Amino acid sequence: MSRLAVDLQKTAGWGAKLLYFSTLIFAALGIWMHPYFHIGSGIFGFLSLVNLYYKHVQTEDILLRNFGLLAQMRYILESIGPELRQYFYASDTEERPFNRNERSEVYKKAENVDSTTSFGSQLEFDHHEIKLRHSMFPILKEERQKYSLTFGEERGLKNKFEITKPFMISAMSFGSLGENAVRSLSKGAALGGIPINTGEGGLSPYHLSGGGDVIFQLGTAKFGCRNSDGSLNEEKFKEIAANKQVRMIEIKFSQGAKPGKGGLLPKEKITKEISEIRGVPMDQDIVSPPRHIECDTTVNTVKFIAKVQSLANDKPVGIKLTLGNEKEFREMILEMKKQDVLPDYMDIDGSEGGTGAAPKSFIDSVGIPLLVALPRVQKILTEEGVRDKMKLVCSGKLINAAKQLTAMAYGADAIYTARGFMLALGCIQALQCNKGTCPVGITTHDPLLQHGLVVEKKAERIKNYIFNMDHDFHELLAATGARTVQDLSMDKLYIPDHA
Ligand SMILES: Cc1cc2nc3c(=O)[nH]c(=O)nc-3n(C[C@H](O)[C@H](O)[C@H](O)COP(=O)(O)O)c2cc1C
Repeated sequence: MSRLAVDLQKTAGWGAKLLYFSTLIFAALGIWMHPYFHIGSGIFGFLSLVNLYYKHVQTEDILLRNFGLLAQMRYILESIGPELRQYFYASDTEERPFNRNERSEVYKKAENVDSTTSFGSQLEFDHHEIKLRHSMFPILKEERQKYSLTFGEERGLKNKFEITKPFMISAMSFGSLGENAVRSLSKGAALGGIPINTGEGGLSPYHLSGGGDVIFQLGTAKFGCRNSDGSLNEEKFKEIAANKQVRMIEIKFSQGAKPGKGGLLPKEKITKEISEIRGVPMDQDIVSPPRHIECDTTVNTVKFIAKVQSLANDKPVGIKLTLGNEKEFREMILEMKKQDVLPDYMDIDGSEGGTGAAPKSFIDSVGIPLLVALPRVQKILTEEGVRDKMKLVCSGKLINAAKQLTAMAYGADAIYTARGFMLALGCIQALQCNKGTCPVGITTHDPLLQHGLVVEKKAERIKNYIFNMDHDFHELLAATGARTVQDLSMDKLYIPDHA
């Protein structure tokens, strides 16, 4: 036995003896001096029993069996490790996915307080960072042009959709987010003049509640417009597409945090409300397949896009995907050309994207990161002569204007962010989105936790974040010497060799 194990066992042994001894002492004091001492004997007696149970009864946990309560201490410390690191040990530039500096910039923008900083950058200037190249001739305020992007103009759609800010709220379903969070986002988006994406959980009344523009996402389970076999229910889809607030449709093929992975909605989580919004029964688990059942080949995938476009009430239809197999991607573009079917936009979600819940193996290991994927997608679309026939949107940790501008210099026309808006709501990065225990009431349906999230106040924060980020964006754009985002290109970036 190793020295450490012997020492630990000795400590555990002494600890146990101390517990038993204290129980006896307190019991004796309780009998002979004052009954209050029985509180102590009760506590120590209980801990002694727990210790005996761990060491001699339970057989599942090795550490508990070997070291009893001492091992339990280790588990407690381990479980509060993330909080200890976040509050006490991690530096301002250390945490993932977003460090304290990045988060606090969003908080300040959402609170509408001064977000300038002083003395100097806290980043390492170690040649790994992509930087924006400023121009000798920055654009003056009066010379700046307003941002505008119109989806659906290439196909000459009757119901084109124009955005006037370069970013939108990325897909997050009612289900992964609670009611108050969705209401706040919806209202804040309407106040800020940007659209909100429903995510794959169907069109909820909460997404519509703010009265603004909505992008309806058609996920692989077709929540909100599915037949019982999971295929598209055309009538229900047409009803959704006809909704005035629904301005675009997005077919989701994959998502950065879990490309190639579907999901399961266990029946225990299906409340009456969710069953109505998603159009699923309450008494059985519902599978979200890893792909649309209609899309088993490239030919059928493009036919499916065409079918959705034909039912979309002449509104723009985009697709969302994470780049994986580039050969398949090019084949899809070739097939689109052959069938003369192009989406109105393509959203490339980098593998660094977020999720409500996904296996760690997928989050960490599947899909291509955004700034690697974007130039490849650009190249294929340009080589195949279709880049100017659709808009390119992208997402993946683009929570501030500098990152958004960088992605646009890489070729994107507009940006989506999900977690930027979660942070603006007040997310503290507790990393509990998959547990229903979100302490700030965002990714939970628990009424007690949602109580703190007051819709009016949070909608205001969303609006502030939108306006302040837009302001930053245009200041940075002007510094590069670009009048409009169309003037952006890779030349505006300093990209170190090892970036
Ligand atoms: C809580 C949560 C729920 C999400 N739900 C969806 C979804 O329903 N459909 C989808 O395509 N992406 C979903 N996403 C991914 C985001 O829409 C986005 O693509 C990704 O997080 C990258 O953007 P970000 O880095 O700005 O968060 C979700 C992300 C989060 C954090």
